[in-house]
Amino acid sequence: MNERLEKLTGLTGKIGLEGAAINPGPTLIYLTGLSFHLMERPTLLLVTKAGGGVIILPRLEKGKLEGKDDLFQSFTYDDDPATWHGAFEKAVETLNISNGKIGVEPTRLRFLELSYLKAVMPTLDFVDASEVFSTLRMNKDEEEIQKMKKAASIAQNAMLATLRKIRSGMTEKEVANELLIQLLRAGGDPEMPFAPIVAIGDHSANPHAVPTDRKLQRGDLLLMDWGASYEGYFSDITRTFTFGDVDPELKEISHVVLEANTAARNAGKPGIAAGTIDRAARSVISNAGFGEYFIHRTGHGLGMEAHEAPYIFAENDLILSPGAVFTIEPGIYLPGKGGVRIEDDVVITEDGLESLTDMPRQVLPLESFMD
Ligand code: CO
Ligand code: CO
Repeated sequence: MNERLEKLTGLTGKIGLEGAAINPGPTLIYLTGLSFHLMERPTLLLVTKAGGGVIILPRLEKGKLEGKDDLFQSFTYDDDPATWHGAFEKAVETLNISNGKIGVEPTRLRFLELSYLKAVMPTLDFVDASEVFSTLRMNKDEEEIQKMKKAASIAQNAMLATLRKIRSGMTEKEVANELLIQLLRAGGDPEMPFAPIVAIGDHSANPHAVPTDRKLQRGDLLLMDWGASYEGYFSDITRTFTFGDVDPELKEISHVVLEANTAARNAGKPGIAAGTIDRAARSVISNAGFGEYFIHRTGHGLGMEAHEAPYIFAENDLILSPGAVFTIEPGIYLPGKGGVRIEDDVVITEDGLESLTDMPRQVLPLESFMD
C-alpha cells in the first residue's frame, strides 16, 4: 500500500469500518493516481482495514494498472454484462470479510456499484463514510498546494485576457465563452471545475446565475465566478466589475463585501474553528445593515472538487489546521438591483493564512481593463 491508502485504512479502522468502496472520481485519483470516466460499466476499488485491496474493472482498462500491481489485485470483466457479477464475486472472495460495515462516498457511489456490492456481500452493511473521505483529502501537501497556485494563476491570467476583449453590448454567454477559450489558452486542463458564471446587471443578484443573452450596458455590474483546473486541482474565483456609472447602493455594497472578504482572510489561522471565519465576514455585512442579503455560507473547501470539506459556515466547529484550502466568498445580493461577491482561494499555513489568488479584489471599472 502507499501512504495515502494507509491513511484511508487507518481512518476507516478508527470509526469501526471493515473497509471502504471507492468508484472513479477524485478520491480514487488521490489514492491511486488512477483516472477513469464514470460510465455504464462499474469500476470499483475495495480496500479493507487489514490492508487488502482489490479493483474490479472492464478488461480494456487493465492497461492503466501497469506498475500498480503492488497496490491491489485486479479482477476484470468483458463486454457481456452477464460476466460482471462473476468478477465482483471473485474479487470479494479474496478479501475474507463476512460481516461489519463498508464505508462509501455517498455523493459518488451510484446505485449501479452498490447493487453489485450488495449482491456479492449480502451480510455486510454499506454506510456513509463522508467523515473519512473529507478528512482524507482536506489538508493538502506542498505539491498539491503548488498545483492549486498554478490553477489560480491560470484562472487569473485567463480573466485578464478576457477583460481586454469585453465590449459594450456583449452578452453573458459571449463573455463566458471567451473566458472558456482563454482558460484553455492559459494552460488549464480541458475539464473545467465548473461552468463559469457571468452575470450582468440585476442577474448578479442570483449567486448561481447561468449565462444568458443579456447584453452588457453602461450602468451594469458584471459579476464573474470562474476557475481553472490544473493537474486535477481547481481554482474558484469571483470578481465583480462596474461598467459606466452604477447605482450608489451597488457601490456601497462593493465596499462592504471587500471589507468582509478582508476580515475573513485576516481571521484565518491554524487552531480556529471554520465558523470563526464565517462569522468574521458575516459580522461586517450585518453591521453595515445588509445581513439579510448575504444568503450563503462564507466559503467551501476546494481541491480536486469544486466543493469539499471544510465548509465555512457559522456553526461549523471543525478546527482548521495547516494545509486546509478553502474559498472566502462573501456576497451581498439586492434583488432587482444587483449583487457583489468577492471570492478568493486561501490556505491555512503554520502561522496564518495565505491567499492563492491575488488579482485586485476591489470592484473596479471594466473600462480600466478593456483594450
Ligand atoms: Co466560485
Ligand atoms: Co466558490
